[in-house]
Amino acid sequence: MKFFIDTANLKEIQEAHALGILDGVTTNPSLMAKEGITGASNIEAHYVRICDIVDGDVSAEVNATDYAGMVKEGTHLASLANNIVVKVPMTKDGVKAISHFTDHGISTNCTLVFSAAQAILAAKAGATYVSPFIGRIDDTNWDGMELIKEMAEIYAIQGFEAQILAASIRNSRHIVEAAKNGADVCTCPLSAILGMLKHPLTDIGLAQFLADYKKGNA
Ligand code: G3P
Repeated sequence: MKFFIDTANLKEIQEAHALGILDGVTTNPSLMAKEGITGASNIEAHYVRICDIVDGDVSAEVNATDYAGMVKEGTHLASLANNIVVKVPMTKDGVKAISHFTDHGISTNCTLVFSAAQAILAAKAGATYVSPFIGRIDDTNWDGMELIKEMAEIYAIQGFEAQILAASIRNSRHIVEAAKNGADVCTCPLSAILGMLKHPLTDIGLAQFLADYKKGNA
């Protein structure tokens, strides 16, 4: 399973990159706004800064909502760096735009996916990545992991090449469950990645090892 970080914060991207486990980055307009990055030219410059840190795929989301606008904006975003993946919402125009990008060799990430039906359409249009929003499904008292499982089954049966990109990941347990249920990629906040390191028995065991070492080497 690949690990992406879900942020536009350069320090967090650098910290995850330094662990040696980072395969890519996803962003969205909300994450850009959180970092105070506004205006098309500033947003584009920020994507270039992210691509300078990470070799892997970097998702850059279109803000246009109509087909022609998405094609224009996405084509421009894709020209910013070799590793840009154009992120397109799951709408009628979005599916049309993904088909266009597929035909023109531009990688895409279909975002805001909440059902298996949407996931089938995105894969059929040739999306490179399809992003089910796990945490937001859980927020509505459904089980986000059931969607990952369903998508993995359908993509395997149908031979779809789209990669399942588990998004809206909130904690390290989500990452473990996404891995078990067949996600190809997990995009996570830094807190969820760092949460994977934690176990009280590791802390207790290390403290004991250090204490015993000090006793024997005083
Ligand atoms: O990758 C999508 C993600 O940014 C949404 O996460 O926590 O806002 O549901 P969240």
